[in-house]
Amino acid sequence: MAVELENVVPLGRSLKEYKLMFDLTDNDLDKKILGVADGIASFNVEMTELGNTVVSVDPIYSFEGKEIKEQFYNVIDSVVDQLKATQEDYIWDIFKSPDEYKQYRIQTLEKFIADYDLGKRERRYIIGELPSLDFEDSSFNLALCAHLLFFYSKQLDYEFHLASVKEILRTANEVRIFPLLDVKSINRSVHLDPIIRELESEGLSVELRKVGYEMQRGGNMMLCIVKEQ
Ligand SMILES: C[S@@+](CC[C@H](N)C(=O)[O-])C[C@H]1O[C@@H](n2cnc3c(N)ncnc32)[C@H](O)[C@@H]1O
Repeated sequence: MAVELENVVPLGRSLKEYKLMFDLTDNDLDKKILGVADGIASFNVEMTELGNTVVSVDPIYSFEGKEIKEQFYNVIDSVVDQLKATQEDYIWDIFKSPDEYKQYRIQTLEKFIADYDLGKRERRYIIGELPSLDFEDSSFNLALCAHLLFFYSKQLDYEFHLASVKEILRTANEVRIFPLLDVKSINRSVHLDPIIRELESEGLSVELRKVGYEMQRGGNMMLCIVKEQ
């Protein structure tokens, strides 16, 4: 299914944020990493600058940089207005205010855009979408997926979640997903417990890990799934 750009809220996080969200150690950063739904995160470009290996996959990469940038500037003010209207649902620690959040998101976008065309040529930004990815089995040591699965639990049903998690596990030996809260909620995603039960029944090792990133109040847990090798 083709992604409609006007339905996407293209916000991207930085390497610093990925490190916190996914509890990434120096050893993790050295792994061959797949960033699923990386969108306009600057994780890929910042990692590449450090000599690390990240491939990002997202349907948004079917668009030109200028179209993605335009969509970002179309939505950023309404995102910030929503944050201002619901400030008590968030922890203002990593960002001191919604305005600081906006400036940081602009910096992240600009870093991504400056790298986008080169990254596409180098096959670091690949067009693709869950629940089916065009990578060989176990091509990556670690896959990271932020702000898609569990986050959009109302829009994406249980079957989509299960198929997507299994598909990411097919491509990587370890999968980490953050956050585990629904986008508009302070409660865990309704899909989380059934997914954990299903994965454990298949003999996979599943861990819920507290991490050092909490912007959504209570949203400081990551799901880590390890495949037997
Ligand atoms: C909120 S952004 C998160 C970007 C990044 N992971 C981060 O945390 O900064 C959600 C991303 O999911 C992507 N997306 C939407 N549907 C997808 C799908 N079926 N498979 C993979 N990515 C998808 C969107 O294009 C968008 O870039």
